[in-house]
Amino acid sequence: MSVHNPDIKRVTTHTIQELKNKGEKISALTAYDYSMARVVDTAGVEVILVGDSASNVMAGHETTLPITLDQMIYHASSVVRAVKRALVVVDLPFGSYQGNSSEALRSAIRIMKESGAHAVKMEGGLEIKESVIRVLSAGVPVMGHLGLTPQSIYKFGTYAVRAKEEAEAEKLMEDALMLESLGCFGVVLEKIPATLTKSVSHKLRIPTIGIGAGPDADGQILVFHDLLGINNEFKPRFLRRYAELHKVMTEAIAHYVDDVKANTFPNEKEAY
Ligand code: KIV
Repeated sequence: MSVHNPDIKRVTTHTIQELKNKGEKISALTAYDYSMARVVDTAGVEVILVGDSASNVMAGHETTLPITLDQMIYHASSVVRAVKRALVVVDLPFGSYQGNSSEALRSAIRIMKESGAHAVKMEGGLEIKESVIRVLSAGVPVMGHLGLTPQSIYKFGTYAVRAKEEAEAEKLMEDALMLESLGCFGVVLEKIPATLTKSVSHKLRIPTIGIGAGPDADGQILVFHDLLGINNEFKPRFLRRYAELHKVMTEAIAHYVDDVKANTFPNEKEAY
């Protein structure tokens, strides 16, 4: 069963900083609706990310680009209604913050006001500096996201590991230090070499949360559907599946279909 710390009544940005300070790893997972978020929160996950991966796993798009701010707010408000303990962080979707800093601020404020979430996440480093400053200036906590940033997938052209070359690794380190100096409370590091994660996590005071970034990040995050094996086609090397729910759910539903066809459901006790 879960080993989550029962002393933590409500996880805040300060709580996850304290976890890093005392060397306790931070668990993070995505969720996109009320029922999922109830499960994730009850299991003791400290940070719930309403990720724009909803575009892939909830809506079936190939990339995270199509999801809109309104759709993110819908997912985030469903999650917030379920959560009693975790810190809820919401992705600012593609196109809602890169244009200019006023637009970024408007988008972040809509998320905070309309969903009740506790923080936002933004992808990128120096390129989005002004937007990060503006959002932080309104008192909205910001989590950064470096390495493989899926909103830039058409620039990268592939989902391969990022920052393997020295120049890109150096830029990532500079971006991470910049995000910390601006006041971000944490940074997601996605799909980068484990050695780079180790140096970034040692250099930064704020927590790093890794995905496909090795064991030395201060915390780990996965996508809900991937961890539970709901999406059985996605099998990257970094993913550990803790259940095979695609199989469990398909078999259960096939069983239901059989029972309906055989007229054994509902039985007498299941009828009024
Ligand atoms: O959208 C998302 O799910 C994410 C995580 C993979 C970090 O950004």
